[in-house]
Amino acid sequence: MPLVKMTELFPKKSDCTYAIGAFNVSDMEMAWGAIQAAEELNAPLILQIAEGRLRYSPLDLLGPVMIAAAKKCKMPTAVHLDHGGTIEAIKLALELGFTSVMFDGSKYPLDENIRKTREVVELAHSKGAAVEAEIGRVGGAEGDYKAVDIAVTSVDEAVRFAKESGIDAMAVAIGTAHGNYKETPKLRIDRLKEIFDATDTPLVLHGGTGLTEDDFKNCYHNGIKKINIATASYDSSANKIKEIAKSKSDAKYFDFSDAIVQGTMENVKKHMKIFGVENKVK
Ligand code: 13P
Repeated sequence: MPLVKMTELFPKKSDCTYAIGAFNVSDMEMAWGAIQAAEELNAPLILQIAEGRLRYSPLDLLGPVMIAAAKKCKMPTAVHLDHGGTIEAIKLALELGFTSVMFDGSKYPLDENIRKTREVVELAHSKGAAVEAEIGRVGGAEGDYKAVDIAVTSVDEAVRFAKESGIDAMAVAIGTAHGNYKETPKLRIDRLKEIFDATDTPLVLHGGTGLTEDDFKNCYHNGIKKINIATASYDSSANKIKEIAKSKSDAKYFDFSDAIVQGTMENVKKHMKIFGVENKVK
């Protein structure tokens, strides 16, 4: 299957019956687990890595592995840079052939976020790639950054941001946070509905780990088109490794690397089923 752009995978605005899963990966094993999950379920896939994790997986090493995994996958697969914060990482991702990048300017005042995002849009579009950007602020931290508080996206700001930046997908803050939740999140589905009604830009949910099946369904029934999952795959893989270390005293390196593949595959399959994306490849 060719490497595709994530925008080609999003359900139409009027189709709120499913959302595409975007799964963060940090090595070949995780990418391989994710593509096997997509193939088993006949589902489209987005593979992504966040800039905040590049300390563990340099983009010039992992990026080509992600592209190769997407090309190997029999399902349409997009490769995306998640939470790009520097122009260097964004440029490198585009040079490597990533089909989309996220620019996260959520820490900047609105005008500055729009201006910086528009620069990324011009660059990415000139290379045929799509851009996701964030308005409002999702809580927690993706990778090695300092955790931040949630700032729920305002409808007026979302409308202005989408129109003036020219982005292809918009990450909105509706009460979710990156990482494992310390308390039950209070989702602002009311706000999601208002934003969905006010703009045609596809909406993205960050901080998927720890939400319930009902939460996910509520989000895509009300307009979310892409859902990001990171921590749950890391935890699923780490738990598999711990199980093997505990139960098999003569475990070898390849038992552990296989645990990462299996741990990621199980988690990706579980979420794809909840997202309703199974059998969406015709
Ligand atoms: P989680 O780590 O909470 O799944 O968040 C993933 C995410 O939003 C990546 O950008």
